[in-house]
Parts: sequence; structure tokens; C-alpha cells
Amino acid sequence: MASSNSSDSSLPADVPAPYGTGPGQDVPAASARKPAKVRVHHLQQAKDEGRKFAMLTAYEQYTAEIFDTAGIEVLLVGDSASNNVFGNETSLPVTVDELLPLCRAVARSAKRALVVADLPFGSYEVSPEQAVAAGVRFLKEGLAHAVKIEGGKYYAPTVRAMVQAGIPVMAHIGFTPQSEHALGGYRVQGRGDDAQRLIDDAVALADAGAFSVLMEMVPAETAAAVDAAVKVPTVGIGAGKETTGQVLVWQDMAGLRGGRMAKFVKQYANLRSTLLDAAAAYGEDVRSGQFPGPEHTF
Ligand code: KIV
Repeated sequence: MASSNSSDSSLPADVPAPYGTGPGQDVPAASARKPAKVRVHHLQQAKDEGRKFAMLTAYEQYTAEIFDTAGIEVLLVGDSASNNVFGNETSLPVTVDELLPLCRAVARSAKRALVVADLPFGSYEVSPEQAVAAGVRFLKEGLAHAVKIEGGKYYAPTVRAMVQAGIPVMAHIGFTPQSEHALGGYRVQGRGDDAQRLIDDAVALADAGAFSVLMEMVPAETAAAVDAAVKVPTVGIGAGKETTGQVLVWQDMAGLRGGRMAKFVKQYANLRSTLLDAAAAYGEDVRSGQFPGPEHTF
């Protein structure tokens, strides 16, 4: 369905229109015009029409606002907040109560992007009822538009229950960080004969009503086979280029996090060194009496 192009003017002129409406490009089909608000059916349209979409994590106001203005279609309030905001080593300790305020901040700050919240470890595994209750909290208290859960076809009944309750669900298969202890660490999933397992997972979850299937750390050929097996759009992180969408953790994408980066990360900035330089210069100015100057003084 075509949607209004009315929010175009809010984008800075130099930001490429995400749906191929930039200068010098062909006038897009009506359905390809940039929607005022990204909805799950726009992601489906992207796959149906052979277009890509971008997804980034966001955990607070400013990044949500910036990524939204940049035209990122989907913002993920990931349970990776555990190890990118709360200082934990893994995604396992973060709780629903910790993620909800982050989710609210992102949802309030993004005008256009679809906001997807992760159901954290321990909030959906026990039963479909537990998952529905957690999902309701993310839509009602967190103002999310959809949730994401990790796990394979075992969770198809859970997805079905959430979808029937009116909660759009993105499924996350392949390497699932909440199961890192069960999976024996960060390991590529779906190699060789194991590819069929991921295809079966994706088909079962999509049949249960998941509006999208995200794959993490999966060989490109397997991801392409999964994408071909389901009608819904797929999203990849370390899953090659055949998925409809791509997602990265924003601190990796923008170079805020230090340390070793996974092979699938491309860094588009070096915010860590920019901030380090700014903080060091500020400290130096304070110690030397250069700051505050007369222009900062009442
Ligand atoms: O929480 C997260 O950041 C994620 C991405 C790795 C997809 O689930």
C-alpha cells in the first residue's frame, strides 16, 4: 500500500532516501515511496519488490533520533543493551524492567522507524502465556511496535500465541546470544548439513506468524536458502547479503566500542577516538584554566 511522502521534508537534503528516491534515481513505484511511518507491511513490500532495508540497535533518545533522521527503517532495542549499556559481559542478565525505559525513550524519539524490542532471556521461555505477558508489557509500557525472540521451531507455538494477541514478532535464529552457553560460545550456525535445521526453523516460525526472520552468524549460502524458503523478509547479521535487511549493533557500526570486532562488523566512524580526544581536551582545558573562558561566563 502506498503511503504518504509527507515526512520527506524532515530529512536533511544530504541523507539518501532509503527507498531509492534520491536525486538522479528513477521515480519509484508508489509502493516504494518512503512511508511516513515504517510498518511491518513495508518490510514485506521491500522483500516483494527486491529492495533492502537497514536496522540498527538504539537504546536511548539521541541515537534513536539520529538514526531515525538518517532513514534507518528499523530500530532494535536489543537485549545487547546488557553488554552495551549496562556493563554486563553477555546479554543474559538484562531484565524486562531494565529494558522497558530504554525502549520507551527510543519509541518516543523515533518518528518514522519501526521500533522492535528484544524479549530478554527468562521472559518468554516458560510458556506462550509468559511470552504474551512480556510482549504486552513491551508494547504497552515500552511503546514498542513489535518484539523479537530468539529460538527455533520449538518457539512456533509461542510466536503464534503472541501474534494472535496482536503482538508482531520478529524471529531470531542461527546464533542466538541468549543461548551462548548451550551453543558452546559464539559459533557460526547452519553450516553444511545443519543448514536444513535453520530452514525448518524459519519456515515453522514464519508459518506461526512471524513477520520477519533474523539470522545471526550463518553462512551466506544457508541464509540465502532460508530467505528463499520463506515469504517474509529476512534480516542478517553476519549472514551475507541475500537477506532483505541488515542489522548491526550501533556501537560497533559507529566505532564506539573498543576491542576486537566480529568479522561481520563494518565500522563507519570512530566515535571512540572522537570522544576520547574531546574528553582529554576538555580535561586539559579545565586543568590549565582555559575553560571556562569569558564567553562561557555570566
Ligand atoms: O540484541 C541485539 O543487538 C540483537 C542483534 C545482534 C540482532 O539481537
